[in-house]
Amino acid sequence: RVMRDIMGINTLEHQLEKRMGIRKVIVVPGDSDRLPWVKSELGRATAGSMKELLHGDKNIIAVTGGSTMAAVAESLTPDFGEKGLVFVPARGGIGEDVKNQANTVCAIMADKTKSRNRVFYVPDQVSSEVYRSFIKEPLIYEVWNLVKSASMVLHGIGDAITMAERRNTSEEDLQKILEGKAVGEAFGYYFNEEGEIVHKVLTIGLQLEDLANIGNIIAVAGGQSKAKAIRAYMKQAPSSTILVTDEGAAKTLLQG
Ligand code: G3H
Repeated sequence: RVMRDIMGINTLEHQLEKRMGIRKVIVVPGDSDRLPWVKSELGRATAGSMKELLHGDKNIIAVTGGSTMAAVAESLTPDFGEKGLVFVPARGGIGEDVKNQANTVCAIMADKTKSRNRVFYVPDQVSSEVYRSFIKEPLIYEVWNLVKSASMVLHGIGDAITMAERRNTSEEDLQKILEGKAVGEAFGYYFNEEGEIVHKVLTIGLQLEDLANIGNIIAVAGGQSKAKAIRAYMKQAPSSTILVTDEGAAKTLLQG
């Protein structure tokens, strides 16, 4: 605690909370762009925050994909299992590699905490026709309902272009993302600097408007290169959001 005060971390957190108008900001020292272990620190800080927020013996936790969420998964421990957790992917496939997929992250989280997970069997980039018939599938519908009743959401935030390039994004969608001047991405939604949605990946699961009904929302994103993306997303994020970030992103966020 004292160490954090000396480093000015507490001040950074309070300034950011005020600036972004969200519930809480947690800053870990360092910059995950430069030092890979800082990402593990983001994971550890998120696990600590989850522990404080989870109550009762039944908790559905909706989770997105990405390497930051994978770091969160690695920080979870078996004692979480007492809280009867069920990890569900927040949204269906959005073009990620297997290691970055929400299904994979949820499976690791369940394994680490000795709890359960559910899988969203949804392919990437379906046509709207296929999409409509998929949501009628009982198994998919069941997981979808679980997602909607989540008491906690854990999600990453990505730089828009990095995400569009990393995923199986079609040429047409890439154009839309570029022309819309997207800077940030979360849940498969792409945002411009004003926080407006310029593109959305068509998939089943949590829609942005569903966040309003979820009690605990933890966004985890660090690294100076993500500052723009975090700022954009936070312009429209629910005020109940908790942001776990690092010093690299935090300092740049305060400059803008
Ligand atoms: O939606 C955001 C991305 O999943 C973030 O991915 O944690 O690998 O940067 P990342």
